[in-house]
Amino acid sequence: MEMIIRNCRLRNLIELQDIGIEDGKIKTITPRLTSTSKVEIDAGGKLVSSPFVDPHLHLDAVLSAGNPRYNTSGTLLEGIQIWGERKKTLTKEIIKKNALKAIKWEIANGTLRIRTHADTTDPSLITVEALIELREEVKDLIDLQIVAFPQDGIFTSPDGAALMARALDMGADIVGGIPHNEFTREDGVADVLFAFEQAEKRGLQVDLHVDETGDEQSRFVEVMAKETINRGMSGRITASHTTAMHNYNNDYAFKLLGILKRAEMNMVTNPFDNSVLQNRTDGYPRRRGHTRVDEMLERGINVCIGHDSIMDPWYPMGKGSMLEGASLLMHTAHLSGREQVGQLFDMITLNSARTMNLSDYGLETGNTADLIILDAENESDAIRLKSECLYVIRKGKVIMETKPAERIFDPLSTAERIDFKLKD
Ligand code: FE2
Repeated sequence: MEMIIRNCRLRNLIELQDIGIEDGKIKTITPRLTSTSKVEIDAGGKLVSSPFVDPHLHLDAVLSAGNPRYNTSGTLLEGIQIWGERKKTLTKEIIKKNALKAIKWEIANGTLRIRTHADTTDPSLITVEALIELREEVKDLIDLQIVAFPQDGIFTSPDGAALMARALDMGADIVGGIPHNEFTREDGVADVLFAFEQAEKRGLQVDLHVDETGDEQSRFVEVMAKETINRGMSGRITASHTTAMHNYNNDYAFKLLGILKRAEMNMVTNPFDNSVLQNRTDGYPRRRGHTRVDEMLERGINVCIGHDSIMDPWYPMGKGSMLEGASLLMHTAHLSGREQVGQLFDMITLNSARTMNLSDYGLETGNTADLIILDAENESDAIRLKSECLYVIRKGKVIMETKPAERIFDPLSTAERIDFKLKD
């Protein structure tokens, strides 16, 4: 064997398993592997999982918070304004340098698949060019999908549609859009239709930023669902954010959820950004800007979690941890039920893989040996602790290793001290 990982705790299995790897593939998963290998790792009963999948990130904007200025209102619109100012000074080198650093952070935290958006609204298209180059340069470390994303809208400038088409010609993988950012409802519908037409013509997937607002009148995800059903594109279509759904009246939301289920739409919620960007003008009581995650999960709609931002004009924090995103969403979307905690782990692994249409993903014999060893005994603990990722294994090779923090002083570590405290 090229590598053996022993004593692995796998989800839903009581007995610890050994995993044998050969030629970069998972050769066997069995309780006691008699073969040996020069490279053996003892997982010691820790949780071994398929890598995390981040289905929504903006790698062209990462690590730019404060440059050229910080977002003082904390709103989505000021974020877009600052990004517009930054675009004028960007170079391909800066984009690639920051994106690579953020990719390494994500890998260190256990992510080996990322879908990134690349802004197509600057005529230079250096954002797209930079990320396409990077996709090739990092392919031994991580798989990247690139969405051609018109941040300012398709119809808010005369050359929006042409720039989008050029970005797709250059090699972006997926068609993006942002209907709620167009000037009118009619232009928003045209934004959705444009994306579907491009995707149909080119055989691509669609992933739109849609209804990312507190406005309960923003209803473009219904247009996406209708087009998905009518064009027979189920499984290829993703709606990202859909925060307005939080504020829809319940009668409309009930109808909409049924249509989304029928269309087999993939839904991405982005807890970091949307917990701080949406509903800032509410006063009190203040609604939270998350889509209806629990209601969608109950209906069997595929929902997953995206990181969205890492230190950019929209969200100044973040370290590339999908477990941290799951922990945050657990609190803000009321997902603390025992079964729901397991669903949260699915939302950063299996559900995201489905959204990205990944084949060759999962801990199964014959699949590529991409896996992670977490410093946790089960998925609930992983989310509770936002655990370190001890090992990241890519195609059967360790590409990142993390030593967990060690506590070197504990005032209650000796029996004498405990006795002393109790006597007191
Ligand atoms: Fe986004």
